[in-house]
Amino acid sequence: MSSHVPYLNSRMQKFAGTIFAEMSALAVATGSINLGQGFPDVDGPDLIKRAALRAIENGHNQYPPGNGIAELRSAIAAHQKRYYGLDVDSVNEVLVTAGATEAIAACLLGLCEIGDEVVMFEPYYDAYAACAALAGTRRRVVPLTVPGWTFDTAALEDAVNDRTRLILVNTPHNPTGKVFNLAELESIADVCRRHDLIAVTDEVYEHLVYESPHIPLATLPGMAERTVTISSAAKTFSFTGWKIGWVCSTPELVAAVRAAKQYLTYVNGAPFQYAIADGLNECDEYLAEAVRALQEKRDFLAEGLNAAGFNVLGTQGTFFLTTDISALTDEDPYDFCRALPQRCGLVAIPSSVFYDDKIAGRHLVRWMFSKKREVLEEAVVRLARL
Ligand SMILES: Cc1ncc(COP(=O)(O)O)c(C=O)c1O
Repeated sequence: MSSHVPYLNSRMQKFAGTIFAEMSALAVATGSINLGQGFPDVDGPDLIKRAALRAIENGHNQYPPGNGIAELRSAIAAHQKRYYGLDVDSVNEVLVTAGATEAIAACLLGLCEIGDEVVMFEPYYDAYAACAALAGTRRRVVPLTVPGWTFDTAALEDAVNDRTRLILVNTPHNPTGKVFNLAELESIADVCRRHDLIAVTDEVYEHLVYESPHIPLATLPGMAERTVTISSAAKTFSFTGWKIGWVCSTPELVAAVRAAKQYLTYVNGAPFQYAIADGLNECDEYLAEAVRALQEKRDFLAEGLNAAGFNVLGTQGTFFLTTDISALTDEDPYDFCRALPQRCGLVAIPSSVFYDDKIAGRHLVRWMFSKKREVLEEAVVRLARL
């Protein structure tokens, strides 16, 4: 999958190629339906698009302020209050970033010393390992295991030592669709408080939850002052190409993240910031309806995968379904996914890429269901060919 890239430093060699680009290119080359990379095939609300056009026409085209425009920071603070009861000061406690990806990188670069350790749950979103390597930190993984993608609290405790700087928590979780429940979050909070750790939470799928509510770790006792909450407009509003993300935390933590962020992009997406401010202020109804529609799509694709012989593991959040392919084949999931376009004109992601432990991930394949109904219907017809 990734080959040696001359000139690239040794820390980053392992991360030279991303599976998402590889699989998306394969989808284009073979004319396959792309259920791999995590982007929807329908844009978000017109109201937000029109706001972006208006912002361009109104001349919001130069560098915005380093921490983001005031309108967006206020909308983010109001969103945190409305949905979670969190009091966030829009002046000192919010930072707008170039997507959640930059926020993750800036947290690791700004908050960690070289040689520090970072704890993350496995499987993990691939950028975590790459950004941890960029920052010269070492990752420690705590396995999430089926059924339920639960973790052993003793394993979490064991992963922490005197070099540990922070715990990275992704809920709702990519790739598994797990939504961490209150008891799990309490045990993470307990470890953070006892070992004086920072929690960095990636909540980009916060609005894509079905059966279980999303609970921000920052709402737990004693956690607001040690949690950096990351989110983004990408998945919430289906504008993944706009790269508007944000960070909420204490003034001190935000200042540290901002110090790193200003040398990554400095600022980004001025007109899109205005548009996402409108989205956050005005799109509660859109979000409720979008989740209802996504849930239907989840159930439809799950049924099609089941009928094709896959063992579908439950998804409570995000727009991903994970399947166990071992009942169908003993192929490695990467080989299985490489062959899938030829076999039936579909593209999916081998979940082994989200693991250090290749044994644990060796039967798993991830499918993305935020696609038009007719696309999913055709995908299910193609699945039946397997
Ligand atoms: C868990 C997770 N975090 C972050 C991102 C990236 O978010 P953004 O597009 O806002 O950088 C993704 C995108 O797939 C994701 O799945």
